[in-house]
Amino acid sequence: MCGIFAYLNYLTPKTRLEILELLVNGLKRLEYRGYDSAGVAIDTPDGKDMALVKKNGKVKILEDEIASRRDELGANETVNIHVGIAHTRWATHGVPNVANSHPQRSDAGHSFVVVHNGIVTNYKEVKTFLEKQGHKFESDTDTEIIAKLIHHLYEKHPTYSFRELVEQVIQQLEGAFALCFKSKHFPGECVATRRGSPLLVGIKTKNRLETDHIPILYGKDGDNNHQEHRPHGRGELPTLPRSESTSEFQPLEDKEVEYFFASDASAVIEHTNRVIYFEDYDVAAVKDGVLSIHRLKRLTDDPHAREITTLKLQLQEIMKGSYSYFMQKEIFEQPESVVNTMRGRLNFEDGTITLGGIKEYIPEIKRCRRLMLIACGTSYHSAVATRQLLEELTELPVMVELASDFLDRTTPVFRDDVCFFISQSGETADTLMALRYCKLRGALIVGITNTVGSSICRESHCGVHVNAGPEIGVASTKAYTSQFISLVMFALVMSEDRISLRQRRHEIINGLKQLESQIKQVLKLDQKVLELAKELYNQKSLLIMGRGYNFATCLEGALKVKELTYMHSEGIMAGELKHGPLALIDDSMPVMMIVMRDPVYIKCMNALQQVTAREGRPIVICEEGDKETMSFTDRALEVPRTVDCLQGILTVIPMQLLSYHIAVLRGCNVDCPRNLAKSVTVE
Ligand code: F6R
Repeated sequence: MCGIFAYLNYLTPKTRLEILELLVNGLKRLEYRGYDSAGVAIDTPDGKDMALVKKNGKVKILEDEIASRRDELGANETVNIHVGIAHTRWATHGVPNVANSHPQRSDAGHSFVVVHNGIVTNYKEVKTFLEKQGHKFESDTDTEIIAKLIHHLYEKHPTYSFRELVEQVIQQLEGAFALCFKSKHFPGECVATRRGSPLLVGIKTKNRLETDHIPILYGKDGDNNHQEHRPHGRGELPTLPRSESTSEFQPLEDKEVEYFFASDASAVIEHTNRVIYFEDYDVAAVKDGVLSIHRLKRLTDDPHAREITTLKLQLQEIMKGSYSYFMQKEIFEQPESVVNTMRGRLNFEDGTITLGGIKEYIPEIKRCRRLMLIACGTSYHSAVATRQLLEELTELPVMVELASDFLDRTTPVFRDDVCFFISQSGETADTLMALRYCKLRGALIVGITNTVGSSICRESHCGVHVNAGPEIGVASTKAYTSQFISLVMFALVMSEDRISLRQRRHEIINGLKQLESQIKQVLKLDQKVLELAKELYNQKSLLIMGRGYNFATCLEGALKVKELTYMHSEGIMAGELKHGPLALIDDSMPVMMIVMRDPVYIKCMNALQQVTAREGRPIVICEEGDKETMSFTDRALEVPRTVDCLQGILTVIPMQLLSYHIAVLRGCNVDCPRNLAKSVTVE
């Protein structure tokens, strides 16, 4: 997904080279989000124009281009006050190429440039309007209309401030966006805003800031300022009221200051741990080194200020360390990440569980009509994996929904529903839209996310932070096992006063206690999994079969294989074998089967026999020492036994390792699979 990074230094002298390095480095930190081209904009050495450097492909290519143009860019010159903006683009409108990459400009003279994450849905309408006004377009992007529109408004209202112009622009836009603007007409100023896509600013001052919040300034005309005025393709834009502030800017105490606008915290953490997460409709402007946050409309529950948050994230947490890939590191971090998910929540001594973020809501949840678990991709699989246990321990109907399909169906939702939104990034557009849909209908919203400060976190009534730590590899691994455990802990909390479930709860809590060491044991299979990968990596397809508690592992394993290796793979419910998939089986079709000694063991054995009877040669994931199952295969991955409902945590890890090794053997880009993004902030 697109990544925004902007850097503003105010009275903090930097050479242009330092600024360019800073911008490129910011983009490198955002690379994991997925992108296909990158670009930067800085002032030209004479200060009269802007230099845009844009390249198709990796940030490294952009970096090399900048290096080859050092002299032209005035690399050694020092500037006291400067704004640079940068972007990694993930194509949505128009193919990946230099013209479509960002920053997008208003005109050849670079009056305004903008970087954008998201999609403007009414861009055609605005484009038609601007074309009629004589503007010529040079890209296929929706973003270019934003640069042209602000220029158009500037020419019409030359006395407007930069912030006011941006406010005028965003009132014309529909869709989702985070935007960061730079202008030749407003040197040293930067304006950023969001609606639906994440954006934050890091603040770095010499001395610690006196303040821990920035007051929000509201438009003078209150609600009137927020009317939606759209161009109609003809005539002039409606004139919108100016939005002078109700109060003066509140300057920060420090004069020398640096600001880092970014799509996420990983890009700013090496510079500062003091950040403000923006909310939808915030317009943040830096002028004369002073940051102000403005909103056109005051909603009833709007706060008076945005808090400056101190990030606890360490840079080394987002670095690869001794591993070859982030994904590999994240797979091997699981003994630790699962413990972090339980830390401070699960007391193994007395078997109590406290989920601080939802504690107060438990009585309300217990009274609900049903639980709905809504998510996409891997996060959805964590819901599939825990549904059976949730049904058992809560005795409530549990619906498990793919967010996109849930929205397509305009599913009925009621005030007494409790809706869980599971998301690693907390920014997935479909999940977020489903959340808003349910919230509007009065349901209780519970967020299960891995990203503090994300949109899903903020928009939920309550929630559980899964605490897996930053996940950089595009393919989700440790977030899955932590989501799984978070949902298990929720099921345990829901059943804490049920005497008839005491024994069952005790077994599960005991199982959770053993997980750290059992995961370590599963990770020792790595070499064996590599040998299997060598056998499989030239194949075209891989079927993964199982049922019951391990069906989610089949779905998740197949998703990992598909996204990382570009091989076809399918997770098959073993109970469905006779209803079609059995026709695929012969001696050459690669098959994996998960056969654990749980309540569906006999049924799984039945499926195994059916596969071998058709000359299938399945690779089996089974329980350690299960000779009976292993007698049907010459290739088995033995995992330790745990309680049935947790077994999926141990069976998914060999699948994560297998997809990782196949991807490496096939020469695929492990951390950034083609066409995929870490945070899918578009529908
Ligand atoms: C697969 C993967 C995706 C995500 C999905 C939802 O490895 O990472 O399927 O799980 O895009 O993302 P989040 O969890 O951020 O909502």
